[in-house]
Amino acid sequence: MQPKIFLTGKSGQVGYELFQMLSPLADIRAVDVQDVDFSDALALEHFVRNLDPIDLIVHPAAFTAVDLAEEQPDLARAVNTTASQVLAEEAAQRNIPMIYYSTDYVFDGNRSFNSLYTENDPTSPLSVYGLTKRDGETAVRTICKKHCILRLCWVYGLRGNNFFRTMLRLYQQGKTPNVVYDQIGAPTWSRLIAITTTIIVLKILNDSRLEHSEFPWGTYHLSAGGVASWHDFATAIFVAMNQQTNQKIELPNPVSSAEYPVKATRPKNSQLDNNLLYTTFGLKLPDWKTQLAWCLDAIKNR
Ligand SMILES: NC(=O)c1ccc[n+]([C@@H]2O[C@H](COP(=O)([O-])OP(=O)(O)OC[C@H]3O[C@@H](n4cnc5c(N)ncnc54)[C@H](OP(=O)(O)O)[C@@H]3O)[C@@H](O)[C@H]2O)c1
Repeated sequence: MQPKIFLTGKSGQVGYELFQMLSPLADIRAVDVQDVDFSDALALEHFVRNLDPIDLIVHPAAFTAVDLAEEQPDLARAVNTTASQVLAEEAAQRNIPMIYYSTDYVFDGNRSFNSLYTENDPTSPLSVYGLTKRDGETAVRTICKKHCILRLCWVYGLRGNNFFRTMLRLYQQGKTPNVVYDQIGAPTWSRLIAITTTIIVLKILNDSRLEHSEFPWGTYHLSAGGVASWHDFATAIFVAMNQQTNQKIELPNPVSSAEYPVKATRPKNSQLDNNLLYTTFGLKLPDWKTQLAWCLDAIKNR
């Protein structure tokens, strides 16, 4: 019999790709805000309590509008923290595992640019979004013993609102944007996050025969290899598009964070150390430049 997975955020960047990858392997019960609003804890509780038997919860849904979260902290907390707590309670109650996605924004990013954050480094979020995601992590970790918390960095993809799509739109309009050069991280394609998660899901499901007694539950960093500033990433997109279209649109201008004020403070250094994911599962994502080339190819071939 096919395993059953409850998947949240089915139309999000990561959720959509997860739905595509997991569908051949499992019977997926996928939801979005139209099915159940995660800001209503009682409605969510009622919804999940009445679900048919499931083997695993995969939970990428989140309030991800980082600047808006500063204005709507209660909503951000309800979706990112309380809803995650409700799902963790349901997973614990059913004695099933749960995968929760978190973020580099749990760190303050004040470290020097040659140092990376490991899973054991203390968190210290600068924004409401980062704080509510960090508290979601804590809830999952405390309530549901069988958890995998995957901390992601600078996610982009073919769907939704993301930096990559904004740059493509500006390029197509022939506009040259100002882009910050003093925040660094690793742009990570949502499809590769979904592929990596699928391998972890297979390991979890395979291990269920042993009651998951052998599984290395815990927190893992999952981001692209290499390092880039937002300006590096934007420039790479414009260079690739100029090559692809034989145009000469002017490349993005570098600006400092101080010259580009936004509501939420972002970490300056968002580099995640992915070593634990590699030593535990043998999984390692390609360099961000390779991921970008693959993503642009995927657009061309659509
Ligand atoms: N994006 C990044 O750069 C980034 C970086 C690090 C970590 N992460 C984490 O990775 C995970 C996936 O991120 P993503 O980029 O795929 O996010 P996304 O594209 O914004 O998708 C979030 C999903 O959550 C759903 N959602 C939001 N509010 C909801 C509510 N009240 N009730 C039910 N569903 C709701 C959204 O539905 P609608 O589309 O209908 O609103 C959407 O399907 C998140 O946990 C995020 O915190 C993201």
